[in-house]
Amino acid sequence: MITLQAANPAGLHGTLTVPGDKSISHRALMFGAIAHGQTRVHNFLTSADVLHTMGVLRALGVEITQEGTEATIEGRGLKHFTAPTRPLDMGNSGTSTRLLMGLLAKQPFDMEMFGDASLSRRPLDRVAKPLTAMGAKYQLTDDNYLPGKILANQHLNGIEYHLPVASAQVKSAILLAGLQAGGTTTVISPLASRDHTERMLEQFGGHLQVDGLKVSVQAQDDLQAQDVTVPADISSAAFFIVAAIITPNSKLSLRHVGVNPTRDGILRLLKRMGAEITLSNKSTVGEPAADLTVASQKLAGITITAEDIPAVVDELPILALAATQAQGDTLISGAEELRVKETDRIAVVVETLNQLGADIEERPDGMLIHGGTPLKTSQPVELSAHGDHRIAMMIAVAALVTDGTVRLQDEESMAVSYPNFLTDLAQTQAGEV
Ligand code: S3P
Repeated sequence: MITLQAANPAGLHGTLTVPGDKSISHRALMFGAIAHGQTRVHNFLTSADVLHTMGVLRALGVEITQEGTEATIEGRGLKHFTAPTRPLDMGNSGTSTRLLMGLLAKQPFDMEMFGDASLSRRPLDRVAKPLTAMGAKYQLTDDNYLPGKILANQHLNGIEYHLPVASAQVKSAILLAGLQAGGTTTVISPLASRDHTERMLEQFGGHLQVDGLKVSVQAQDDLQAQDVTVPADISSAAFFIVAAIITPNSKLSLRHVGVNPTRDGILRLLKRMGAEITLSNKSTVGEPAADLTVASQKLAGITITAEDIPAVVDELPILALAATQAQGDTLISGAEELRVKETDRIAVVVETLNQLGADIEERPDGMLIHGGTPLKTSQPVELSAHGDHRIAMMIAVAALVTDGTVRLQDEESMAVSYPNFLTDLAQTQAGEV
C-alpha cells in the first residue's frame, strides 16, 4: 500500500514520453511471429500484458529477443509453431487471449491456457462463437471462461460475421483466423473499432479489403517481416492529459502520442467539454502520431452516447474523473462494455470516485456524473483498484486534486500497461521531465 501524492500548488510541468501502445505492441509480436524474416519493433511496450503475449509465443517456439524497448522476432510463417510443454499463461490480458484464440485456431496440437482471477471472469464466447463457426475447436468452462484449451485443428473455413458489439479484439481474432481459412472471411462491425490489426496486416504485405465497417481477408502465409515503430499509448497519455487539465497551474507536453482516429476519442470528447489540446509535429509511420500540449483549464459537462464509446473505451474511467471537475452534468450511455473489462468499470468508477466526494449515479449502460464536486476526504481513505491498472492510475490522478490523504492498496496493478506510471507522475510534480 502507498500514500498517493497531492499536487504541488505549482502544478504539473514538463515534457514526457509515455510508453509504447499496448494494442500495437501485442500485434507487432503476433504479426512478427507469423511473418517470414526478422521483425524489429521500436518503442515496444514492456508491460505485464504484452510480456504475456511474448511468453506465450516463446512457449510455442518463437525466438524473440528484447532489450529495453527494442524487440526482435524471428518469424517463420503460420505453420512453424511447436507444441508447448506447459499451459499458456495469459495473465490479466484479454487482448492476448482473444487474439491468440484466432491466431492459434489451426495448429496440429492442443494448447492449454489460463489467466488470473480477473481474466477468468471475462467472456470468451464472443470469440469462441465465430471462431467455432469457422471450424476452430475450444474447450472452455461451462460459461465459456478460462481456463481452457485450444484444440488441435486442421481446417478453417471463411465466414461472414456481423459483430454484435464493436470489439476490436473479436474483429482481430476472426481476421487472424481468416488468414488461415479457406475462402473469404468477412467481419462487419456495428461501429468503427480500433483498426491496428488492419493497418499492421497491410504493412506486413497482407491483402485485405476494407469497405467502411466491413473488412475481408483470404488465406495468406507470405507476410513479410517489418520494422514497426510503436507510438506512445494514448490510453496512458490520457491520465496525464486529464491530470494537467484538472490540476491548477499545470502545463504538460506529451511526445509522439498515437492519434489514430479509432483511438483518439478522449481528445475529441475533452474538446467537446471545452478543452484546448494542441497537436504538433504530426507524423504517420504506420500509425498517426503527434505531440500534445495541454494546460489546466475549465471543462463543461457533455452527453456521451454509444457512437462515442469504441474510440474512448479504455479512457472512460479517467474521463469520468475529469467530468467530476466539470461544470454541469456528464451523461455516459451505451457503455455497457465497461462491465466486462478488467473489472466492472462502471461499478468500480462510481464506487471509487464517490468515496472521494464525487456525485455519480450508476446506470446499467454508463453513469450520470454531477460535475463541480470538490474531491475531499476528512479521514485518510484506503482505496483498492481491484487489480485494475486503469482504475489504479485514475485513483492516483484523483489524489492529485483530493483534499485529504488517499492510500492505494494495489498500486502494482499499474504494471499491466504502465509500470513506471507513479515515477513519471512524481517527475511531472517536480517539473523535472
Ligand atoms: C483492445 C481492444 C479493446 C480494448 C482493449 C484492447 C485491442 O477491447 O478495451 O484494452 O487491443 O484490440 P474490445 O475490442 O473488446 O472493446
